[in-house]
Amino acid sequence: MVLASGSGSNFQAIIDATRSGKLQAHITGLIASRDGIGALKKAEANQIPQFVLSPKSYTSETEFAHALLTCIDALKPDLIVLAGYLIKLPATVIQAYPGKIINIHPSLLPHYGGKGFYGMNVHKAVIADKNSTSGCSIHIVTEEFDEGPVVAQATVPVLEDDTPEALAARVLEKEHILLPATIQRLLHP
Ligand code: GRF
Repeated sequence: MVLASGSGSNFQAIIDATRSGKLQAHITGLIASRDGIGALKKAEANQIPQFVLSPKSYTSETEFAHALLTCIDALKPDLIVLAGYLIKLPATVIQAYPGKIINIHPSLLPHYGGKGFYGMNVHKAVIADKNSTSGCSIHIVTEEFDEGPVVAQATVPVLEDDTPEALAARVLEKEHILLPATIQRLLHP
């Protein structure tokens, strides 16, 4: 199953890989952190069960965590994939699925991870620091944000006249290859 907060291009890459046979997996459902996002449309177009669980709809974090865990449990996942999920996963969820939750991050972790490093912020910082290489990482989700063990990485060059948008697009292209391939490896070692 997949959790997402955005356009869902990584989610689409996972769907495509299951269709082409490169990824032997059944996506049991998509949980979105808010209504109206692109990932929900992709779930609908592909007949994947979809759920919207927004922290704002709950009176406390405990209630949200309980609802999220109940929904995840019902989907009986072998692997939980955070594909652009911008909510900090509640500790109870992480504890219920140790080693079974992965996240994709648009930098070469441990660099440019943690608080504040999301979306375009990551690529702006990489360019500002004049790095010649960037990339994406997939890591196991632990209670320390962006700090769990890295299970896969792919690199891209940072070009002389790069803009954050151009770099983001180059990294995203790699994400779309790395994520389905890594899921396949984790599910079928
Ligand atoms: C990706 O860059 C991913 O690394 C980050 O969020 C973005 C999600 O993009 N965690 P998309 O919604 O899959 O297009």
